[in-house]
Amino acid sequence: MPEASPGKWHLGHVSWFFETMILARRMDYVPVAPELNAVFNSYYEALGARVERGDRGLMTRPSLAAVMAYREEIDRRMEVRLTEGLEEGLERYLFDLGLNHEQQHQELFVMDMLNLMSRSPLEPAAYDVEPRTSAVQARRDGWVGFESGLTEIGAQERSFAFDNERPAHKVWLEPFSLAADLTRNADWIAFMEDGGYRRPELWLSDGWARVKAEDWTAPLYWREEEGGWSVMTLAGRRPVDPSAPVRHVSFYEADAFARWSGRRLPTEAEWEHAARSDPEAFANLTSEVWQWTASAYAPYPGFIPTEGTAAEYNGKFMANQMVLRGGAFATPEGHARVSYRNFYYPHQRWMFAGVRLAADGAQAADGDAHDAFRREMIEGLSHRPRSLSPKWFYDAEGSRLFEEITRLPEYYPTRQEAALLRRVAPEWAKRFGPAAVLVELGSGASEKTRIVLEAASNLAAYVPIDISSTALTAAAERIRADYPGLKVLPVVGDFEHLRPPPDEAGGGRRIGFFPGSTIGNLTPEAAAALLRSAREVLGEGGLFILGVDLVKSPEVLVAAYDDAQGVTAAFNRNLLVRANRELGMDFAPEAFEHVAVWNAGRSRIEMHLRASRSMTVHLDKLAFHLGQGETIHTESSRKFDEAAVKVLAEAAGWSLAAFEISEAPSVALALLVA
Ligand SMILES: C[S@@+](CC[C@H](N)C(=O)[O-])C[C@H]1O[C@@H](n2cnc3c(N)ncnc32)[C@H](O)[C@@H]1O
Repeated sequence: MPEASPGKWHLGHVSWFFETMILARRMDYVPVAPELNAVFNSYYEALGARVERGDRGLMTRPSLAAVMAYREEIDRRMEVRLTEGLEEGLERYLFDLGLNHEQQHQELFVMDMLNLMSRSPLEPAAYDVEPRTSAVQARRDGWVGFESGLTEIGAQERSFAFDNERPAHKVWLEPFSLAADLTRNADWIAFMEDGGYRRPELWLSDGWARVKAEDWTAPLYWREEEGGWSVMTLAGRRPVDPSAPVRHVSFYEADAFARWSGRRLPTEAEWEHAARSDPEAFANLTSEVWQWTASAYAPYPGFIPTEGTAAEYNGKFMANQMVLRGGAFATPEGHARVSYRNFYYPHQRWMFAGVRLAADGAQAADGDAHDAFRREMIEGLSHRPRSLSPKWFYDAEGSRLFEEITRLPEYYPTRQEAALLRRVAPEWAKRFGPAAVLVELGSGASEKTRIVLEAASNLAAYVPIDISSTALTAAAERIRADYPGLKVLPVVGDFEHLRPPPDEAGGGRRIGFFPGSTIGNLTPEAAAALLRSAREVLGEGGLFILGVDLVKSPEVLVAAYDDAQGVTAAFNRNLLVRANRELGMDFAPEAFEHVAVWNAGRSRIEMHLRASRSMTVHLDKLAFHLGQGETIHTESSRKFDEAAVKVLAEAAGWSLAAFEISEAPSVALALLVA
């Protein structure tokens, strides 16, 4: 591909940049190797002749050893210059520019190497595991809304920024929402399967011309195989991970996808305003892929290109390109900024570029939950083994069935935990102090809450958080009626995305309450992340009462999840009933058998739905084929011991102040202190 350069070229070019921009500023400077100027000059017209970009790969000389020797000599000369001291102002800026330029080429090096390797029939892996400069972030659902108003964008800070990020200036924004997370491969597959690459009405005219001319049917590096899609990565060709953010899509594709989704791409001003004002509300802002914006790459009002040769760095490209914001997994640490303007031509795809959708106005919370359910259903059914999060059990009927489960003879956890709570709550409540705030995660019917409320009569506020709005609203009403002096502030939401309690809760000590061993439904990583974010949200002095079920004989455990009356089976199948109603799917719930098994290796009970015959289920135009006997994993319920709870709590910044065990069948309550 003409845009991709060999690694050796990048190595030489970044040193050449220091030589021409800084060292050669002295009139008496003698170049290290004048003949290399034309090889390593990228696009600077003022700096003489150069090899065309597409021909760089044809240069077999200089050898790697000669390039490294050139680099070493430039490094040596730069060290001397730095020891002498740089002039403040332009020279100092050019030095910082040189460092930032080198960081840009570190990412380009990896992009170009991936492209090169994708062209080889051997599809070599450059690494065993793709290298990254920051950790993978937990995914996040929903939208973040912003009011209209005047905002300021552009580099406001005095620290380094490219000339194209300045000057900071005012922009008026209309109300908009920005997706909390990036578009995922599963969403992209849905777009493809809905004819995304075959429907001209979704595309800009130039984009559609590309689709036809280059025969696009999927993102760059994707290939359809027997078992699904695969993608070329830095670790070789791998199956497409439905839950990973989509990458290697052009602006044209991003724009068509947004149109198909009934949404749009954000402007760069919207992106920057959102990232400045509420960065915590988003996932993967700068750590996965650069995000296409709907903004053309143009000068900001009052833009002045850097004086001298570096004037050609950015300004001359301000036509026919689009801006990308954020940063990628391969962007060097500390390189990206909230005002950073990356830019590429709208058809280019070899960059680590993806999508974060935007929409006009506010996106309804119900819409969020519906979108998340749909997305997770597609992801869950596309993955092997197939799985769904247990949080989708709890529509109104699911919450009702759960309450019925708590009264079953086999289901010991609720009874045992309530009895234990009655025993420990009076003692633990003495630690709460005046005007404390009780924040309950997954509060359901708020029945156990009453035991805490009786023990702690001086609580100021109760903040129940639950994903099931029907269960939450009804429970909050009952608690309000029975405890008139208590502020009841229900929050419909996902406890995996905890937010600080509302201001009306006041400033008393915050007490987290997470009973029912619901923590056992989360993966160990998600459980640790939840406890960490609870530690942060509840703050210094916070307490956390955590209920866990304990390891015990598999017979007792399995019976608790597979009762004789079949209530748990109905609860499990209700997930399919809900999917049919809310997503228009066509599951035949009666064709699925409820299965509960003890997985000793992972210390967890697993619930599955097993297809009793082969079948095809549909979600819109997507079809999922399930073979006879294939299962959908719907819930894991991890069982703990004291040591496991201690490790989990301490890793999240809590210490274990007490661990009390009920009578058999045993459950435990842990008191964690911040
Ligand atoms: C096992 S029940 C426990 C209910 C109650 N806390 C108890 O101990 O009996 C789980 C509760 O958590 C809620 N829930 C499950 N996943 C959730 C999530 N991700 N965010 C918020 N609530 C969730 C369900 O709606 C349900 O009310």
